[in-house]
Amino acid sequence: MSHPLLPRIDACVNVIRARLPGFTPKLGVILGSGLGAFADTLERAVSIDYRELPDFPTSSVHGHAGRLVCGYRGAVPVVAMAGRVHFYEGYSPQQVAFPARVLCRLGAKHLTITNAAGGINTGFGVGDLMAITDHLNLSGFNPLIGPNEDALGPRFPDMSHAYDPAALGVLRASAQAVGAQLREGVYVALSGPSYETPAEIRMLRTLGGDAVGMSTVPEVIVASHMGVKVTGISCITNLAAGISAQKLSHDEVAETANKVKDVFTRLLSRFLDDVAATV
Ligand code: HPA
Repeated sequence: MSHPLLPRIDACVNVIRARLPGFTPKLGVILGSGLGAFADTLERAVSIDYRELPDFPTSSVHGHAGRLVCGYRGAVPVVAMAGRVHFYEGYSPQQVAFPARVLCRLGAKHLTITNAAGGINTGFGVGDLMAITDHLNLSGFNPLIGPNEDALGPRFPDMSHAYDPAALGVLRASAQAVGAQLREGVYVALSGPSYETPAEIRMLRTLGGDAVGMSTVPEVIVASHMGVKVTGISCITNLAAGISAQKLSHDEVAETANKVKDVFTRLLSRFLDDVAATV
C-alpha cells in the first residue's frame, strides 16, 4: 500500500458515512479469532462487508471476508470489526493496520482490541481472559515503517502507555461487576503462522511475556500513533508450546474461543458501557 494513506483511509470513511449518515462511533472494537459473536449484540446494527470498503484487506483464514458492524449499545455508537487480517497471510504491516486506522479516523475515541493467545504464564489456564498491560513486539515489523503522515500522528510516537492505564482500571472494575476472573499480563506478538517451539516459549517467558499471539500489536501501534486510547484483552485459548504434552492446533484455539464467548461477551459489553462514560 503506497502513501499517501490519508485519502485511502478517508475513502473508507466516506463509504461508511454514505451508508450511515452522521454515524460517528465513540468506541471501536476489534474482535479476535472466534470472538466475533459480540458484534451480533449491537443494537440497530448495520453490517458492511469488508469487500465494500476500498483497500480493506479481506481475511483468507475462515473463507469469509469479515464485516464491519456499526451499531449501538444503548445511546453509545460503536463500530466493531468481526474478522481481521494478519501479517502471516501475506499482507504488508501497513495493510494489516489499515482497518484500525479507519476506525480511529471515523471518530472512535477508544479502541478495544481482542485476540486469541497462547498462555506462556504457567499460572494461566485455558479459557482465562487476560487484560493486556503491555506488549513485546517481536513480530519483526512495525506498521509505521515508511514515510510518516504528519496529519495522522508523529514520526516517533510514545508507547509508554500503549494500553491506557485508566481504561485498564475500568476493565478491572467491569470484570468484578460481571463476576469474571481477569488475568493481567504482557502480550508477545510474533509473525506466525507456525506456532512457537518449546524453546521459544521458554525464551519468551524469560523476556517477561505472559501470552503469545500473531495479531493486535499493529493495530495498537497505529491507534497510539493517532492518539486513540487502547485496551487489549486476550483469550487464553491454549497453553503455549511445551507447557502441556498436547500438540497445538487451530481447532483447539477455535474450540476454546467458542466456549468462553458468553463470559467474554458479558465482560466486553460491560466494559464498553463503563469506558464509554469516561471518554
Ligand atoms: N501461539 C501463537 N498464537 C496463538 C496461540 C499460540 O499458542 N494461540 C492462539 N494464538
